[in-house]
Amino acid sequence: MRSRDLEGIALELVSAGKGILAADETVPTLTRRFDTLRIESTEQSRRVYREMLFAFPDSAEFISGVILHDETIRQKSSRGVPFPEFLANRGILPGIKVDRGAKPLAGSPGEVVTEGLDGLRDRLSEYRAMGARFAKWRAVIHVGDTLPSPACLSANGNALARYAALCQEQGLVPIVEPEVLMDGPHTIERCEEVTSVVLHSVFYALFQQGVALEAMLLKPNMVIAGKKCTRQVSVDEVATATLRCLRRHVPAAVPGIVFLSGGQAATLATAHLNAINQLGSKPWSISFSYGRALQDPALEAWAGRDENLKVAGLALHRRASCNSAACVGKYTDEMESADDPPHRSDWSDD
Ligand code: 13P
Repeated sequence: MRSRDLEGIALELVSAGKGILAADETVPTLTRRFDTLRIESTEQSRRVYREMLFAFPDSAEFISGVILHDETIRQKSSRGVPFPEFLANRGILPGIKVDRGAKPLAGSPGEVVTEGLDGLRDRLSEYRAMGARFAKWRAVIHVGDTLPSPACLSANGNALARYAALCQEQGLVPIVEPEVLMDGPHTIERCEEVTSVVLHSVFYALFQQGVALEAMLLKPNMVIAGKKCTRQVSVDEVATATLRCLRRHVPAAVPGIVFLSGGQAATLATAHLNAINQLGSKPWSISFSYGRALQDPALEAWAGRDENLKVAGLALHRRASCNSAACVGKYTDEMESADDPPHRSDWSDD
């Protein structure tokens, strides 16, 4: 595939007012989330849940792409349509998580490295044939007084860059996700320091591996105080620090930055995105690729019951439409209490 085609897909993923739904939780992770609400986790219940996430009213107005898990890309809608085709029919690009999770990094206690490079070329080729147009690989960085170590930075940067180069070779747009975790008592200043060094080493590795920056997206954390930090800061401070850090370390050739939510409350993640987009001009589109911050209210509303599927879809519609507005800096508190959209006849079409 020509790099031009990949550039077009990358741009489509960050077209104005649209973002990405991350629905690629592994079976154990989704099972843990189901467990907290006493929802039974089976292949069928996960399929029903994911179909609700993909088919909510007007989904393609707000969502440009969905990141799937290996289990889901092989499943079908209730009417028997394979999910990649189901999404494409709605005007949504199917994507796929291709890493195999973060494992302890040898010699670096308390740190992890993401695995999954072995056999990746063949897996990417299979996913592309199944309809995937973009992929995701998540690196996980713990913050401590002396973490991350140089070993962690280079191992994760190198893996992300090798993954991204393979994706482009196989005709998929790579989403490069280095996540600096919110866990811990660190300050926002420490988060900015660590995010800076992480982004710097990731882009150095991408350069070394010859990755075309125009044909990828960056999925970073926001610059934010650790969950246990005693000094939590304002929305404006988060926006200013985040944009300063990105401006210093993300080349202008990258078409889009799509944030992860990382455990922020759903409405706060929207407010942060909105505030970032209200600040000055930027060389990239700035949007969302949220998992929990889009899904949590819908998962709670569904609670595993068929009779709740519609109200769950409306909860997701709320989060998707508010985040869509935040992509263009037009989100307001009132949008959180606006009327639900009228019932649509295309509710669960294929
Ligand atoms: P969260 O928005 O829940 O952090 O998930 C995004 C994601 O894809 C993590 O890899």
